[in-house]
Amino acid sequence: MGNRYNIIGSKIFMTGGAGFIGTRIARELADDNEIILFDNLHNNAYKTSGLGDTPSVRLVQGDVRDIEAIRKAMEPDVDYVIHAAAIAGVDTVISNPMRVLEVNIKGTFNVAEAALGLKGLKKFVDFSTSEVFGQHAYNVDEFEINPTVTIGEARWTYAMSKLIGEFVVHAHHLQNHMPTGTVRPFNIYGPNQVGVGAIHQFVKRAIAGEDLTIHDDGSQIRAWCYVDDFIHGVLLAMKSERSAGRSYNIGNARSTVTVYNLARMVIDLAGSKSKLAFKAMNYSDVALRIPNIKSARDDLGFEPQIELEEGLKRTIEWYRGTK
Ligand SMILES: NC(=O)c1ccc[n+]([C@@H]2O[C@H](COP(=O)([O-])OP(=O)(O)OC[C@H]3O[C@@H](n4cnc5c(N)ncnc54)[C@H](O)[C@@H]3O)[C@@H](O)[C@H]2O)c1
Repeated sequence: MGNRYNIIGSKIFMTGGAGFIGTRIARELADDNEIILFDNLHNNAYKTSGLGDTPSVRLVQGDVRDIEAIRKAMEPDVDYVIHAAAIAGVDTVISNPMRVLEVNIKGTFNVAEAALGLKGLKKFVDFSTSEVFGQHAYNVDEFEINPTVTIGEARWTYAMSKLIGEFVVHAHHLQNHMPTGTVRPFNIYGPNQVGVGAIHQFVKRAIAGEDLTIHDDGSQIRAWCYVDDFIHGVLLAMKSERSAGRSYNIGNARSTVTVYNLARMVIDLAGSKSKLAFKAMNYSDVALRIPNIKSARDDLGFEPQIELEEGLKRTIEWYRGTK
């Protein structure tokens, strides 16, 4: 599959490589490339990814807050750096905002600084988030950001740390000619997700016949992007020369639904008897989030292919198989 993007015979260093998205990228590229996954195993999708048996993929356990550990693991002939390590998941963000700021800001500083030493670096792909748009994000484009966030509220440390990360890598592009490119995932879901994603939780609970928890009345609106479509966007950005110094929204506006309707869809598609349990939310949420992917379309030729119903069917099937 790596051949589809003409990413062949390369050495790839990927932070957060043991995570949901990192392991999926590694599987896509492992046949044609050598891959170093750098991860402290805060989350671990690696153990169920099958990558342990893949000789071209190596896991190095380390922390992005430790620049010496990064320098040691980042071999000098690395061609691509993918920086996907982060603390995401709103529960961790609220319980430990200092750690979020450190990992996401200091970590990005460190990984970019270490990459400055790579002579043959072809692209530094940085992972941001759709959260950078704040509480209301309708048809939001890549360049104009007016985030509405509440100062001092722990929940927004994640969004702001990721936005700073974008500025860090853009500054390296401007000042040090580093070929950086940023992708902003909009609600990615699919097989082997770990952590706290809504679809991942809904599917697991629907299969087990347990209640699906909905915050407030479930009227929050999200556009869901199947992981294969997202990976396609990442690899296009990684390969494209036009992506240097740019940020891209990667998502699927056609797969937009309220959280309430999403839960109903999961229950129906899983043929489950689960019920919905409504719970009051104790932090501010994003009411509406739908991407505009015009730049990814124009620059990269990106177009999502897998609509929500099909993606949910595939996800449910995968979770059933590995239960
Ligand atoms: N999944 C989504 O919908 C989504 C949405 C927006 C942004 N993102 C971003 O995409 C990237 C990948 O997300 P994911 O969904 O695969 O999450 P994930 O939690 O599965 O992967 C992140 C990985 O980073 C690792 N990590 C955390 N702290 C670290 C540290 N200090 N040092 C080294 N590794 C560390 C974790 O162990 C984990 O394996 C993240 O940067 C995340 O912020 C994801």
